[in-house]
Amino acid sequence: MVFEQVATGGCQSYLVGCNETCVAAVIDPEISQIDRYLGLAARDGLRIRYLIDTHTHADHFSGTRELARQLGIPVVMHRESPAPFVDMRVDDGDMLLVGHLRARVIHTPGHTRDSMCLMVEDRLFTGDTLLIGATGRTDLPTGDPEALFDSLFRNILRLDPTLRVQPAHDYQGLGSSTIARELAENPRLQKRDRAAFVEMMRSLNLTMPTHMTEALRSNMSGGKTVAQLLAEAAAKVPFMALADLKARVEAEEGDLIVLDVREREAYETGHIPRARLLPRGQLELRVNHDLPDPTRRILTYCELGCISTLAAATLRELGFQRAVALDGGMQAWREAGYPVKSGAKP
Ligand SMILES: [Fe+2]
Repeated sequence: MVFEQVATGGCQSYLVGCNETCVAAVIDPEISQIDRYLGLAARDGLRIRYLIDTHTHADHFSGTRELARQLGIPVVMHRESPAPFVDMRVDDGDMLLVGHLRARVIHTPGHTRDSMCLMVEDRLFTGDTLLIGATGRTDLPTGDPEALFDSLFRNILRLDPTLRVQPAHDYQGLGSSTIARELAENPRLQKRDRAAFVEMMRSLNLTMPTHMTEALRSNMSGGKTVAQLLAEAAAKVPFMALADLKARVEAEEGDLIVLDVREREAYETGHIPRARLLPRGQLELRVNHDLPDPTRRILTYCELGCISTLAAATLRELGFQRAVALDGGMQAWREAGYPVKSGAKP
């Protein structure tokens, strides 16, 4: 079995493959690691066939949807998953054939209603049901400590004690554990009485994961994250360095149109000399009037460099083939001590 573990902070994802048939599956891919999975699969001579999420993640951005789009292969989740883009819904006991490997689905509700573990040969991919030295939390949407108790003590902890535990989270860089070791050492598994376990889970009082709202939104709908939207825009436009723009502004280069895409108030407080104001929200409405010549070189900037990237990408889509965005924003311009002009005039 080919086995690759990819960590994104504490999030763990896995590429597992069959050496003989060159077929692979990715388990719990994270959106920022998409190129890494593709690179690993290519390096190992594997073709990815399945994209599997062990559950609806509330704390990281799933890469299944985007990988499925790129590769034309199915997203697999438990049938309880709320995500409408899941291509293959599976049930307890189902098996996926990854070449000669058998990935067996074990439904383990508790952390979420749609949580499942996957057993592949001597490894158990536990998602957030069982972590190394911990368990998944049960206080997020569809979490249920009673169900988690059953999933652990009446199900996966009764499996072969030598099974390697591969969780979806590991903040200490331990890599993997075994069922036997978790039974012996995992502090949360020492409460083997149902009521005591449930009481412990209910009193954990954990802080909410960062980006939870956005993670649930994008993971459940298949929609993009803001970072994804920005990365896609940034891939479509070239950028100009701050110092380069300063030199062009000082040289009074007539060919370049500098567009400030912030709001009027920010513009009047201080803008780059010679910059015109065209707020991002009005770009499409005013573009024909304000920018009649699509062959001109146009540079967009905003406060931090994000909105200006979207604006430049929009301009390029509209046919302004020389639109560029500033690499940085007004904040970086001020910090560099470059000239700033205030008032309503360019
Ligand atoms: Fe989770």
